[in-house]
Amino acid sequence: MCGIIGKAGDGNVIPDLINGLKKLEYRGYDSAGLAVLNGNVYSSVKTAGKVEALAEKVTACRCSPGSTGVGHTRWATHGAPTDKNAHPHFSPDGKFAVVHNGIIENAAELKKTVLPQDEVYASDTDTEVAAHLLAYYYKGDVIGAVSKTVNALQGSFALGILCSDCPDTLFAAAYASPLFAAKGKTGAFIASDMGAVGEDAAEIYQLADREIARLTKDDVAFFSADGKPVVKNMVNVQVGQLSLEKGGYEHYMLYEIMQQPDAVRDTILPLIRDGHIIRHEGFPEGGFVRDRLNRIRIVACGSAYHAGLVGAALIERYCGVDCRAEVASEFRYAAPLIDKNTLAVFISQSGETADTLAALRLAKKKRAQTLAIVNTEGSAIATESDAAVFTRAGREIAVATTKAYSAQLAVLYALTLYLAREKGTMSTAQEGAYTQELLRLPEKIRLTTETVSETVTELAGLLAQKEDMFFIGRLLDSAAAMEGSLKMKEISYINSQAYAAGELKHGTISLVEEGTPVIALATQPEVFSKTVANLHEVKARGAYTVLITTEQLLGREYAADKVIAVPDTAGPFAVSLAVVPLQLLSYYTAKNRGCDIDKPKNLAKSVTVE
Ligand code: F6R
Repeated sequence: MCGIIGKAGDGNVIPDLINGLKKLEYRGYDSAGLAVLNGNVYSSVKTAGKVEALAEKVTACRCSPGSTGVGHTRWATHGAPTDKNAHPHFSPDGKFAVVHNGIIENAAELKKTVLPQDEVYASDTDTEVAAHLLAYYYKGDVIGAVSKTVNALQGSFALGILCSDCPDTLFAAAYASPLFAAKGKTGAFIASDMGAVGEDAAEIYQLADREIARLTKDDVAFFSADGKPVVKNMVNVQVGQLSLEKGGYEHYMLYEIMQQPDAVRDTILPLIRDGHIIRHEGFPEGGFVRDRLNRIRIVACGSAYHAGLVGAALIERYCGVDCRAEVASEFRYAAPLIDKNTLAVFISQSGETADTLAALRLAKKKRAQTLAIVNTEGSAIATESDAAVFTRAGREIAVATTKAYSAQLAVLYALTLYLAREKGTMSTAQEGAYTQELLRLPEKIRLTTETVSETVTELAGLLAQKEDMFFIGRLLDSAAAMEGSLKMKEISYINSQAYAAGELKHGTISLVEEGTPVIALATQPEVFSKTVANLHEVKARGAYTVLITTEQLLGREYAADKVIAVPDTAGPFAVSLAVVPLQLLSYYTAKNRGCDIDKPKNLAKSVTVE
């Protein structure tokens, strides 16, 4: 999951490459590098670390300018995140420079069976094989060499290619990995995400599988895998939205937590009219819901999967349809029982996650009706699904998702209410009452950020000193506990585990020691006392206990050293409020530990490899 960018322009392209790479860092930030051509002479700078380090190195070494270039920001797959493994990689004759996003699965095989055995490799990467292949196949025609290379590679790739024999030309090719090409005012561009180029990108095209692009400052041409010219239509993608503003906050994550009321409001408003959930064009038709729908699968990864768990529990409860949330990386290799009477829902912020995309393709093959809940218009998951409902969270930059997760929950609430009404398992009046409460949710989320702030910052000081903790909850709170635990571990690096509250005593409780934090979520009235009983059990064994509940449930007996109460709401929506203190808790804990909150180690925002 790397970010690539390239430009064929007039003047020096290095500043554009660096600016673009800064915006692509959400795709990985293990190392960064660039290469430019000045005549047929390369200048290349690479470094382990972030794009800022690359910018400093470029200045320090007085890198020569060039009018054609490629840049790369890396999330390491093959080979450690070192200078040596940073892209671009070069062919042994020094003619070709390559940047790559994806994984070349047959790299080892190509080294053994196609490339000369005495070939010397400068890195541990799979990418370098592509550079070697280009030189191996090159007989004076770059498109011919790219075509042969593209046909030899297996796995996934978006490649940006320079050849010193064609100093004013940039080449690109893609397979199962996003890559855009554009003509702009100051030249022609390639990028994993055109937001990195911004307003300068005018005519934008997306490369289809095994397509090749050739770009000069005034022209963009496309070729099929066998090197024949193809005519392509432009795509409508929004650029200029990759703003690096933090709204005055210290970190994107905090800014995005505070943006949640807007994200949820902007997401639900298009789904509601006259106090009721409408049949949004993305939602399945009423006839299908009433007469055929007998199974729903919600498929996603990470936090999106956690949102899916909430959705699945709600749909099963309120719509009486068999509904399960599944992890996409498992679903795609399992033998899921889905058919034309199944609704398969795919949730993704980026719309690019490789496993979710593969799961979607599998569901389509099995003729399920597919619905994507996506934050990124024009993404593969949005375009390939039968229908899409967009979360309106806006661009999310912090690697740990917050506002996109909340917006996903909002769509799942609306979907549940729509399905329940259409199935006849919920009266229109009841659906309307829930819809009213849904409309109040954004303001309650805002209120929550204010009311919990003092306790959360105080508690974070204590949690920051711990190395292990547990999150527990029942029913919807169990899914929220998983999300809270993931947030905590991914940005604070504290080992944190989430359990259905009743499971703790089946083994895990042996890990509870004096002072071990156990954070219990109990927002569901029907199981409040059961979760509190579990809190008693760990408190009796020395745990430091925290209870997150609603104001209404506060009056009951509890066993907590610290209590956080969120505003009252209808049971199904309480997760959306309970998750706010969890997000803030992980944020402030990580801050106390001096962690790189927006770019946690080893992670990337967009996971385009499986
Ligand atoms: C965690 C997080 C990840 C993503 C997951 C899916 O904070 O952000 O777990 O939720 O990688 O990504 P998308 O939603 O882009 O498919």
